[in-house]
Amino acid sequence: MKVTVTKQPKAKPDSSKLGFGKFYTDHMLVMEYERGKWGEPEIVPYAPFSIAPATNVLHYGQGIFEGAKAYKRADGSITVFRIDDNFKRMNNSARRMCMPEFDAEPVKRALFELIKLEEDWIPTGEGQALYIRPTMVADEEVLGVHASKRYKFFILLSPVGFYYANGMQPTKILVEEEYVRASIGGTGEAKCMGNYAASLIGAEKAEAAGYDQCLWLDASERKYVEEVGSMNIFFVIDKEIVTPALVGSILPGITRNSCLQVLKKYGFKDYTVSERRVSMDEIVAAYESGKLKESFGSGTAAVISPVGVIGYKGRDMLIGGGKMGEVTEYLYNTVTAIQRGMKPDDFGWVEKVK
Ligand code: COI
Repeated sequence: MKVTVTKQPKAKPDSSKLGFGKFYTDHMLVMEYERGKWGEPEIVPYAPFSIAPATNVLHYGQGIFEGAKAYKRADGSITVFRIDDNFKRMNNSARRMCMPEFDAEPVKRALFELIKLEEDWIPTGEGQALYIRPTMVADEEVLGVHASKRYKFFILLSPVGFYYANGMQPTKILVEEEYVRASIGGTGEAKCMGNYAASLIGAEKAEAAGYDQCLWLDASERKYVEEVGSMNIFFVIDKEIVTPALVGSILPGITRNSCLQVLKKYGFKDYTVSERRVSMDEIVAAYESGKLKESFGSGTAAVISPVGVIGYKGRDMLIGGGKMGEVTEYLYNTVTAIQRGMKPDDFGWVEKVK
């Protein structure tokens, strides 16, 4: 593999001020698709791309991405979490968006070389990791509305802290009743750029009203809960831990799946676990009867984030007294312990980079 090392390494950021996705390491991985096949992955200095104004991703948004994380342990070893699942989902997204699939093995090997080259960028504090952002964009300079014949694949690395500015403090989410993020048959379950563009209006409305994020409902009835846009959502109703079933418009989150697998394998107290449709009527009824005990979001960036308030139809429902509940805390502790090597990985999720 060709590796071009930068002559101008950047100063590393202050690890107490990382935030999320504000800093990028010195190098990135790039790979080009042309004449029906992918070229070799290469490592190059992190730098702006030169891109023609007519390039189709700039007009029609044919682009997909992923989010994964690498961790450094106290003994200096480096691991990634469920990276094969990220590449598998990316190839699923590629199929939905008429983009070419890629062979994940050589890309993973190149990614590991990139991570090793950037190992001094991996932060090790609470809630910190090296965020991995694989991305694929249509790269043909043509305005006709067709699938592109050229693509650029790249992977950026970013040292990150907690996704939310308030760390593990419970977030406030507002149910969006006017706009929708995705419909069944649309692109909701693909990790494509347009889904995130479509979600911005809900996020802006929520922020303007004093919430952190918005909670999306289904497109046809505005009745069933879907996801938050940057994370999947779970509820603890009485003794049931429930998350919306993947009906086609919801991102099949890898952290969502990790939570479900952890709960199914180890169990937690006498809770049951389900994936099914959850309506806002049910959430309101559970809140009113005192059975809505907890809510939390799950995602690579968000990890497992407690939700303290759900705003719906002009009323704020305070969940668990606005404090993190026992199921949320158990899942946060268990999943992050597996990710960081503090608990045995019984699932085959953790892969050693070095
Ligand atoms: C992730 O959790 O990695 C995501 O991609 C969600 C968001 C930051 C876009």
